[in-house]
Amino acid sequence: MISDESIHYHTLWYNPFNAASLEPRLTMTTQQPLIAELHATARDAQAQIAAAHDTGALEAWRVEFLGRRGRLSQAMQKLGGLSPEERRAAGAEANRIKGLLEELYAAGQRALQEQEAARKQAADRLDVTLPGRPIALGRLHPITQTVRDICAAFTSMGFDVAEGPEVEWERYNFDMLNIPRDHPARDMWDTLWIDWADPTEEGRRMLLRTHTSPMQARIMEKAKPPIRVIVPGKVFRHEATDARHEWHFYQVEGLAVGKGITFADLKGTLYEFARRIFGPDRRVRFRCDYFPFVEPGVDMSIDCFLCKGEGCRLCGDGWIEIMGAGMVHPNVFKAVGYDPEEYTGFAFGMGPERIAMLKHGIDDIRHFYANDVRFLRQF
Ligand code: DAH
Repeated sequence: MISDESIHYHTLWYNPFNAASLEPRLTMTTQQPLIAELHATARDAQAQIAAAHDTGALEAWRVEFLGRRGRLSQAMQKLGGLSPEERRAAGAEANRIKGLLEELYAAGQRALQEQEAARKQAADRLDVTLPGRPIALGRLHPITQTVRDICAAFTSMGFDVAEGPEVEWERYNFDMLNIPRDHPARDMWDTLWIDWADPTEEGRRMLLRTHTSPMQARIMEKAKPPIRVIVPGKVFRHEATDARHEWHFYQVEGLAVGKGITFADLKGTLYEFARRIFGPDRRVRFRCDYFPFVEPGVDMSIDCFLCKGEGCRLCGDGWIEIMGAGMVHPNVFKAVGYDPEEYTGFAFGMGPERIAMLKHGIDDIRHFYANDVRFLRQF
């Protein structure tokens, strides 16, 4: 006699490839041959599905066990030859086994789907541990940085920033700055002339500007005092290069014009600038110097920050010259139509390369324009 109680139901197993045993679910007390055959079928099905690792194999398994001419339906065909009582028991068992086999088949399909999904995922996997491609970060050229520092020091004192043309009229570069043609001071600024001349007009020759000072005249021509402006820009000289000379370099020009501006304003402004760029302990020294567009003219030095003014290999005598300056020459005012009795002013000019060299201890100006990233990367 077969009873339901004689079959121990256990937890369903879902992954046929792990070959969980069907055995507990088939434990029976019966000797009926058809039931034994059904159980053998179930055991074989369980054993074989573990090897069905692709859709083709799983389909072959389905045909063999659950197909219309498969082992289960062949067994079921034998039910007709049994006594009604045996048929009832074997029939019920056949249905139950059918259910089990269908479960197995569904679990096999699920397993294959999961396998396929896992395979796809592995193939498409994004390896987040791969180091990213570094973005090449550029940086500002040390001269750009220095020019910006200089501009910041002056704009915070109320100066505007203006720029002017690098190809300049001879008139602005020289004549209006109190350097007439054939004046010996022109020797201070040998330059590159543009191969173009307007033969009809005297003085209409063009050159690569030798300094930023022509912007003094350009600005005064256009604006009315009070004027406070600095002019950063590129300048050119006909020059043999060496550790301290380049044929092109930068300058920052400064100009302040108004009523009652004195040499004390010049000193105070430039002293404050030196402290902002080179540190609060700096001392400054002014000495007489000659520039045609100022009177009196001076050069300004700071005390050497390396030896603190004692004298060393960098400075020599304890002082480092950083710029030229002076009170705007009356002839320059006249050239732009200002009345020198009404207005006074001061002007200055400095080289950012020299300031950068002092600040960073660079011993050759040519490093700045050699385009060697090993040098440039350091700033
Ligand atoms: N332009 C001068 C040069 O290139 C520098 C200079 C000196 C500018 C004195 C000035 C100044 O404005 O007042 O050597």
